[in-house]
Order: sequence, then C-alpha cells, then structure tokens
Amino acid sequence: MTRTPTANLRAAVLGLGMMGRHHARILQALPGVTFAGAVDPAGDRHDAVRDPALVFATLEQLLDSGPLDMAVVALPTEEHLPTALALADAGVGMLIEKPLAASTADAEQIIAAIHRRGLPAAVGHVERFNPSLLALREKLGEGLLGDVFLVATERVGPFPERIRDVGVVKDLATHDLDIVSWVAGAPIATVSAQTAHRTGRPHEDLVLVNGRLASDVPFNTIVDWLTPTKTRRTRVLGDRGMLVAETVTADLTFYENGKVTSDWSSSQALRGVSEGNATRYALARSEPIRSELEAFRDLVAGDLDAPVVTLAQGLAAVRSAEAVLESARRGETVRIPA
Ligand SMILES: NC(=O)c1ccc[n+]([C@@H]2O[C@H](COP(=O)([O-])OP(=O)(O)OC[C@H]3O[C@@H](n4cnc5c(N)ncnc54)[C@H](O)[C@@H]3O)[C@@H](O)[C@H]2O)c1
Repeated sequence: MTRTPTANLRAAVLGLGMMGRHHARILQALPGVTFAGAVDPAGDRHDAVRDPALVFATLEQLLDSGPLDMAVVALPTEEHLPTALALADAGVGMLIEKPLAASTADAEQIIAAIHRRGLPAAVGHVERFNPSLLALREKLGEGLLGDVFLVATERVGPFPERIRDVGVVKDLATHDLDIVSWVAGAPIATVSAQTAHRTGRPHEDLVLVNGRLASDVPFNTIVDWLTPTKTRRTRVLGDRGMLVAETVTADLTFYENGKVTSDWSSSQALRGVSEGNATRYALARSEPIRSELEAFRDLVAGDLDAPVVTLAQGLAAVRSAEAVLESARRGETVRIPA
C-alpha cells in the first residue's frame, strides 16, 4: 500500500537506456520526489528527460549540480560495482537494477560499501511488482493449491541487441531464480543446468535449470534469447490444481483439478487428476516499475517496512546464477550453501 509521502527527495537516474528511460519517466512525475537529473555519456537518446539541462555526462557533474537523496543504477551490469561504490561514497541511497552485480564478489563489495554508510538500498527485481505474480503469491499464501509440487518458469524470446556484457543466465535467469524462491518462500538449495551458445556470442544464450528449494519443492526454468515469440510465465502446480502467471499481460489463471469422475478411463484405479474449472482473475493493472519506485522512495523516506527487494535477496539471485553456470560447466548438480 503506497502512502502519500511527505518528504521531497532529490532523485536521479544513471543510464538512460532501455530501462533507465522508464525510471526517468516515472521519477519526473512521482509524488514526493524532485527529479535532480540523469547521467549518460551517450546523452538522452530516448528523449526521456524533459529538461535537457538535467542530462549530465558524468556522475561527478550530477553530484556537483546539487545534493542527491536517491539514485537508480540502470547501467550495463559490469558498471554496477564502480558506480555503486561512488554513490555510496557520496552518501546516496540506491536502487540497483538486477542483476545486483556481474559476480558474487562484486555484489558483496557493493553491499559492504552500502552497509558501511548505512544507506537505504534495493535491487530492481521488478517482476516482484508484477500484479500477476503478487496475486499468485497471495493465493499460495492462502493455501489455494494445498501442497505445492512444482514451480516452473519460462522466459524465452528474441535476442535484445542491447546486452553485451553478460549471458542469459545473469541477464534474465536471475529473474526466475529470484521468482521461484520468492513465490515458494524458500531459498534454492541445488541446481543442475544445461546451457547452449547458438548465436556466436561469448556468453550463453539458452539455459535449462532443474533444481530443488530448501523446502524440498522441485523447480525448473527455461530461459533463452533464441525464440521468435516472447513468453514470461510462472506456473505453480499443487494438490488442488495449477496457478499460471503471465507477466507480459499481467494475467493470473487458476486451473482447478476436476471433481468429475468418468467411467471412460481405463485407469480409474489410479489416483490422478482431471480437468476442472479455470478461473482468470481480474487484477488491477499497476505498472510494476512505478510500484517498485514508490516502494524505494518510501524506504528512502524512512519507511523500513517498504516492500523493496533487499540487497541480500539480490545477492542470492547472483549466487544462484553463478551456481547455474558452474553446474553447466561441470556437468554436475551444484549445492548452494544455506
Ligand atoms: N528489471 C528488468 O526487468 C530489466 C530489464 C532490462 C534491463 N535491466 C537491467 O538494467 C540495466 C541496464 O540495462 P538496459 O537494458 O537499460 O541497458 P542499455 O544498454 O539499454 O542502457 C545502458 C545505458 O547506460 C549508459 N552507460 C554506460 N556506462 C555508463 C556510465 N558509467 N554512467 C552512466 N551511463 C552509462 C549507456 O550509454 C546506455 O545508454 C542492466 O543491469 C540490466 O540487467 C533490468
């Protein structure tokens, strides 16, 4: 629930690319926030900033222009570490786009610097603000499915020209590794993965993961940059049926197990499921990035209960991604220490 903030926080965006332009658009109109400017050495290619005087080529120029309470780090993943350290030095709270960093070691350095200064910070796992996943998690919490048997995610689509510095595991599968653990309420314990390189780039462009959560629930995930159509789906299978969240359209559907028995089947002696009613929920469609920025603004304003994705959760996603890459490299199941 968003409260009307009383603080007037000066906020900036670092990087005006595919993601940063949306952060800039929203921050320029967010109650409780004054837009202090944006930094991008390539300029404002998407015309995201209304006042051209607020577009800077370097972070130093932005910091020289006035005080800053919060900044969104929407830079290529390899740039997160140096920029987060510079922001921490300047005492600025930060929302860092996912993945938190390109490696666990980088992520730990970022976290140490932020903690040393006691700054508010969060990670941009924006899927957690998608209405379909929020509703799915709520229904699981209410026990709609009974026991959970499986969490399965699919995130496939064409290659986005923008990504150069990391492969599909760190760029995209970090969403899924975060989602499976978040919706089922348990950390990832083991992963077993396969990757493929099909487009001649240095990093993998397809990954399949089978894994198990610490609660013993199995999960699987398929992610690629090779599929001509875009799918973003999370499916949870349980005792009473299946919930399917489609995050592109923000839809959630409950497929209930059937209660009708048939004398047609020859396998009636076996305990199994049949098809029952399907319910598509009517959900309020709020823009996930806006909800994410509202939560971060509230955190910076002093609300310690603001529903942000924490640095520890961002680190867990990077750690899981590294375990996935290690598993694919070694051809073995990898255990993630608790
Ligand atoms: N949450 C999501 O769903 C989501 C989606 C896409 C990207 N992302 C993340 O957002 C980040 C940015 O991705 P993108 O797709 O916007 O990339 P992008 O390449 O479109 O944009 C990055 C921008 O940063 C600028 N830049 C590079 N170095 C800079 C520096 N030192 N200071 C300031 N600007 C600099 C570039 O000129 C470019 O305009 C990545 O971490 C990515 O993983 C998150």
